Parts: sequence; structure tokens; C-alpha cells
Amino acid sequence: MTEPVPATAENIAAAAAVLRQGGVVAIPTETVYGLAANAFDAIAVARVFEIKRRPSFDPLIVHIGDLRMLESVTSAVPATARRLVERFWPGPLTIVLPKSEAVPSIVTASAPTVAVRWPSHPVAQAVIRQAGVPLAAPSANRFGEISPTRAQHVGRALGELVDMILDGGPSEYGLESTIVSLVPSPAVLRPGAIEAEAIAEVIGPLSEGRTLGEGMVTPGSLPHHYAPRTPVLLLDHAGEAESGRERAGWLGLGPEPEGYAYARSLSRSGNLREAAAALFDAMHELDGRSLERIDVEPVPERGIGVAIMNRLRRAAAVHS
Ligand code: TXA
Ligand code: MG
Repeated sequence: MTEPVPATAENIAAAAAVLRQGGVVAIPTETVYGLAANAFDAIAVARVFEIKRRPSFDPLIVHIGDLRMLESVTSAVPATARRLVERFWPGPLTIVLPKSEAVPSIVTASAPTVAVRWPSHPVAQAVIRQAGVPLAAPSANRFGEISPTRAQHVGRALGELVDMILDGGPSEYGLESTIVSLVPSPAVLRPGAIEAEAIAEVIGPLSEGRTLGEGMVTPGSLPHHYAPRTPVLLLDHAGEAESGRERAGWLGLGPEPEGYAYARSLSRSGNLREAAAALFDAMHELDGRSLERIDVEPVPERGIGVAIMNRLRRAAAVHS
């Protein structure tokens, strides 16, 4: 059983060595924890798929630590991408670009494109720099389950399977990165910590798109995803779900209502950024309480609220 270890200089160096030798390490990022392997090592990447039980048609994000690494994993970087890089990297934005020959096809699920991100988390940056290679890293959870925002979430779900878990504290954003594709035209494939409006300000209008061509769909856009085991009921009108509250949990904004077995406010003041950072941690916590269902109050769909509602609808879709 691998327990999380603090991200000290010594443990970061050890993690980098494990990665260079083909190992799999869970690392903190500013969005969620990632399950990292050397992106150029197809066998190490295969282990990531195995550990996550992730279908091989679902490509991984490649994490880089400088622009030289961006050149090494892509075959072309259009001017629009350069503008996004300048404005948002390092940070919670993933950009889909034409891939280079150096990236094994297992990483991209045989797609001609690669999803790239330069994380801002200092521990992620140190690990990438010391490993000296880009890291392919999906979120460090089993396929379809809730992404981890704390090292302990990873330990509980995957502790038996990974070589090392670096604890860098709770994730700052708590939601996965925004994925923007520039191939063939700019589109947001997954809403995330960076709002679509902010991206449009830099590169102009985006087309509504989620297909990747050739029948491939961004799996983060499958209706069933990010789901706790406990059924989630997304409340859409007042007075709904009045019965059975003594065996149910509640999640929402503002003060906790009376009558629930357990209620957790994502932000008492209604701050959406705070709510995003708390969302997955709250879902993990409620899922561990043997409740019959989790009632979730919708949040306003503005700013990061768009990404929050995207995750909540998928969590609820599993059981409906
Ligand atoms: O914040 C994040 O993005 C986190 C941290 C660890 O960086 N990672 C993450 O990875 O959420 P994952 O694997 O859980 O989600 C990556 C999504 C998948 O839905 C995948 O289909 C999509 O990125 N993706 C990867 N490569 C792609 C490509 N070439 N074209 C389109 N979508 C791609
Ligand atoms: Mg994921």
C-alpha cells in the first residue's frame, strides 16, 4: 500500500527518478491530482491506462514544464495557440494541437492530435523539470469516478497500484482544466477553471464543438462521468425531494438546510470559485457516509459555475 508522502525536495527528486525509470506517480496540480508517467514511454503509459481501468480510446493530457517540451510533443503551434500560451500558461488550460512523431500513439489514442498543458503547481513543475520529460497524466481516479483534489483521495482509490503519491496539499481550483481544441477550428471540448469567454477574448469566437472527428468524443463529455457511487439528485424546483432527507445528504451554496442526515455548503457566501475548489472533496466526503442519495442544489451558470454545472449534470446522469 502506497501512502501519500509530503512533497519535500527529497521526495520530489525520488518521484522524478521513479518516472525516469518507467514508474507511475500521482502528483498534485492546481486543478486536480494527476497520475503521471513518462509521455515518451509507451509501456509506462500503458500502466496508467491499466491502473485507471481507462478505455484505450480515451487519450491523455501531456504535461510540460517549458516551451521546448511543447515543441517536442507538437508538430505545429499556430499563432492562436501562441496567444493562449502567453495569456494562460502555466495554468489550468489544455490546448489540443497536432502531435509530433515522438509521442507514442497510446498517449493520444491514435489521434493525430495531442492535448498539452503546462501546470502552474510548483510541485508539478519541479517533478517535470527533474524528470526531464513531458508527463502523460490523466486525473488520478478510476475511469468515470470523481477526480481527486487531495492526496488522500488518491491513496484511498489507487494506493495499492501506484509507485508513489506526492502530497502537495488540496488543489487550488478543484476542477479539471478547460480543454480547447484549435484543430480544425477553435472550440472548448470541456469547460473548466478558465472560462470560455476569457479564451474568446484572446482568440475570437469559438465554435460549439465536442467531437474530435472520426467518431471520437472527448470522454470527459460522456454524460456519465465524475460520479460518486451514491445516487445524485440534481434539484430543479423548490419543494422537491422533501421525503427521506433523514437518510440523504445535501450539497449547495449558502446556508445548510435543516433535516438532512448530512449537509455541506460549498460556499456559505455563494462564492463560485470557492465552491469549485470544494466540489469534488465534498462529493468524496458525502460518498463515504453511506447515504441513500445526495441532493444537489444547482449553482448559477456564470463564470466557473458553467464548469461546476457541467460536472454536476454528469454526476446526476449516472443514476437517472
Ligand atoms: O486538469 C486536468 O486537465 C487534469 C490534470 C491532471 O491535468 N487532467 C485531466 O485528465 O483531467 P483526464 O485524462 O481525466 O481528462 C483529459 C481529457 C479526456 O476527456 C480526454 O478525452 C481529453 O482530455 N483529451 C486528451 N487528449 C485529447 C485530444 N487529443 N483531443 C481531444 N481531447 C483529448
Ligand atoms: Mg478524468
